Amino acid sequence: MKIDGKHYRSLWWSESAGVLEIIDQRWLPHELRVQRVERMQDFADAIQEMRVRGAPLIGATAAYGMALAMADDPSDGNLDAAWTLLERTRPTAVNLRWALDRCRAALRPLPEAGRAAAALALAHEIADEDVEINRRIGENGLALIREIAAGKPVGEPVRLLTHCNAGWIATVDWGTATSPMYQAHDAGIPIHVWVDETRPRNQGALTSWELGGHGIPHTYITDNAGGHLMQRGQVDMLITGTDRTTRRGDVCNKIGTYLKALAARDNGVPFYVALPSPTIDWTVDDGIAEIPIEERDARETTHVNGRADDGEIAAVQVSPDGTPGGNPAFDVTPGRLVTGLITERGICPATPEGLASLFPEMSPSAE
Ligand code: MRU
Repeated sequence: MKIDGKHYRSLWWSESAGVLEIIDQRWLPHELRVQRVERMQDFADAIQEMRVRGAPLIGATAAYGMALAMADDPSDGNLDAAWTLLERTRPTAVNLRWALDRCRAALRPLPEAGRAAAALALAHEIADEDVEINRRIGENGLALIREIAAGKPVGEPVRLLTHCNAGWIATVDWGTATSPMYQAHDAGIPIHVWVDETRPRNQGALTSWELGGHGIPHTYITDNAGGHLMQRGQVDMLITGTDRTTRRGDVCNKIGTYLKALAARDNGVPFYVALPSPTIDWTVDDGIAEIPIEERDARETTHVNGRADDGEIAAVQVSPDGTPGGNPAFDVTPGRLVTGLITERGICPATPEGLASLFPEMSPSAE
């Protein structure tokens, strides 16, 4: 999507320098800083410190990390070492392991001399695939927005609510939850987006930055406002992303998503999840029991980052000295609270049968 009229992806390969370049998201929405990722440890740090973040983007970044590893040393030992270094960076988003497994499986059978070029080509392929998947999710989600718009007086906006940032900078392009929003706006359907701030890392600020850049009307709200807005009839539909969805349709996403799903159910508001197929974990049924939930540094809860009045980006402490902070970064919404999963192949119920109907090759009967 565009920043100040110029098209960007969230990462790109610099042919002239022969390195990956990323947008360092820690500085957004206040500053656009581009960073080169030149060493293996830089890749691990970029994912762990959330310079890149969002399940699909983490996966694509890891694929470029595998390419760098193969350029450094294409041995089997280094293939495994790179897999391990990167896999440990963040535990919840399954796209990371999906991309690493795909790279290792494709590269292992190749002669060492061919691995570097093949790994880079595969990283480009994974990045391009992500763009196409998200474009299609947008097309499928657009049909839902169109349907709601058709039931409203002409010109009245469809009011959407989203949590966290499942936008173009959480993917390679388009975003998952935002792709239907961009496509609806581009199709001339009036929409307005309620954007949850998403404490503690305030990814809602990233979503607001994105939507503002595309000219989409939106309002940045506290995480606790959503239930109230739904009770007042001010939300037509929720769309969030996901970091891992199980084969029975349980959705793991940014902490706070579950509470939104509960409020949506209580108020009869449809709750959709934009789900690219690499985010489905076909090895897991019960998301609550089986998905590892990342516990991040407590400082993310006791402090808030932002831009001070003098323009400096600073962290300020909000809790008393010494207060212990707890920081589970994700939660699981059971499939029964999800109205539907918007995938690149279509929309399905969040059930084993629903997912199997769209991805029959992955269902147990296909094994
Ligand atoms: O901790 P983050 O910022 O990486 O978490 C991101 C999310 O939870 C997103 O909603 C999810 O990855 C989907 S991104 C298309």
